[in-house]
Amino acid sequence: MKMAFRLRSLLCGVLMSDQEARAVCRHTRVLYSLKALLLMLAAVLIFELYASVAHQWLPPSYEPENVPGKLLPAKPEKKQILLITYGRSGSTFTSAIISHPNSVFYTAEPLHRMPDSYGIYDRPLPERTRLKALDMIRAFLECDFRAIDPQTYSSIMFLSSNSTYDFKRCIENQKKAGVSYVGCFLHMWDLCTASNVTYVKTIRVRMWWAAWFLDRMPNLKVLFLIRDPRATLYSQAANFQNFDPNKSAAPKSKEFCDEVRGDVSSFQNLSSLYPGRLMAIRYEDGAVEPMRFAKNIYKFLGNEFDRDMEEFVTRIVSSSKSGKKLEENSYGYEKKNSTATMNRWRKKAEFKTVQAFDESCKDLYPLFGYRQIDSDELLKSDSSLLTSPSFHGFFKPL
Ligand SMILES: *[C@@H]1O[C@H](CO)[C@@H](O)[C@H](O)[C@H]1NC(C)=O
Ligand SMILES: *[C@@H]1O[C@H](CO)[C@@H](O)[C@H](O)[C@H]1NC(C)=O
Ligand SMILES: *[C@@H]1O[C@H](CO)[C@@H](O)[C@H](O)[C@H]1NC(C)=O
Ligand SMILES: *[C@@H]1O[C@H](CO)[C@@H](O)[C@H](O)[C@H]1NC(C)=O
Ligand SMILES: *[C@@H]1O[C@H](CO)[C@@H](O)[C@H](O)[C@H]1NC(C)=O
Repeated sequence: MKMAFRLRSLLCGVLMSDQEARAVCRHTRVLYSLKALLLMLAAVLIFELYASVAHQWLPPSYEPENVPGKLLPAKPEKKQILLITYGRSGSTFTSAIISHPNSVFYTAEPLHRMPDSYGIYDRPLPERTRLKALDMIRAFLECDFRAIDPQTYSSIMFLSSNSTYDFKRCIENQKKAGVSYVGCFLHMWDLCTASNVTYVKTIRVRMWWAAWFLDRMPNLKVLFLIRDPRATLYSQAANFQNFDPNKSAAPKSKEFCDEVRGDVSSFQNLSSLYPGRLMAIRYEDGAVEPMRFAKNIYKFLGNEFDRDMEEFVTRIVSSSKSGKKLEENSYGYEKKNSTATMNRWRKKAEFKTVQAFDESCKDLYPLFGYRQIDSDELLKSDSSLLTSPSFHGFFKPL
């Protein structure tokens, strides 16, 4: 039954573009040509065969039915990293730092194109959907790609990681079908199983969900990335067009900071339940002191910070690429001057809007070390909005 479903969804994704697949997969009246069907069947058989063989190579702790740690793993144990944050909070920059070594397999936003039928954007979110979302993230963290719905791969986010870029380009190539399509998967699978760290970054998971992963994966660590909520909200309005800051600053910021408050509370509870496995980081600390920021993260993860990393961090915070080229790409991680980038939102911001944001979020500022903005002069100036030193308090490195 499960196999039949997987087979059908694979076929749907293979023969058509994403949009077509969505339409067609709902209407079974479509007939495939016999030739394509046979080719697909052969491909799926090879894929499943490889899957069953490859599965035996994985350490026993990767068998979902085994209690982690019950058996000695056959290979050095892998590490998993989960970064939880909000849209436009500096996660591209932070993820570039974490994912730079080739030994890290990085998946950006695995829930970005979860099948609509799962209702990931329904409010309230059905528990069934939440569990599916958790399992999909688990699948990326454990290189268990068979468990993933092919519709997920339509996400453009697969292009933003070097680990998944080739795969995305490979399946986009419509001429490729059948065995070569399966080849795209096998290549990604090889990359993932050969890595010693798997890393997932997501804005679609709430902090309390992390308990599920911390419980199952003894080597997993969680990073919680925070940015000034006013900068995050402004950048979301500009880049996602998810609200009009002139009209709905108050309700939108209330909704957002309620979510942050809940995440902070869960983060604090989980930190005492799983000591040493969660760390909060502040985007502004990364913009002002990128090298220390990067080193703190690597120390927390227990990964080696070598010469190559040092050069990489230096390169991405003081890029030699043309300013225009960098400005056009608001999702890029290379900046001419990371401190200037951090403050750019202030020049365009309306004081009235910022006041509304502050009203919804100001109770969080003492914890995060942000200054309330009481005048338009302060807003438009270059004065720092930070009230606590870098890497301090809630953001003290472990
Ligand atoms: C991804 O690969 C490109 C090309 O090799 C490289 O320039 C870039 O720095 C890599 N990205 C990261 C985050 O290391
Ligand atoms: C991961 O693998 C690389 C080689 O691919 C190695 O240099 C590095 O030390 C390994 N890291 C860990 C944490 O095992
Ligand atoms: C908000 O209002 C200001 C002036 O009051 C205007 O310049 C700006 O374009 C408006 N923003 C949007 C998104 O409508
Ligand atoms: C965290 O723990 C406190 C005290 O036990 C509790 O009141 C609070 O509801 C918990 N928060 C979350 C989000 O679970
Ligand atoms: C980066 O920008 C900040 C603030 O805009 C400025 O103080 C600093 O001198 C700049 N750094 C460089 C290297 O240009």
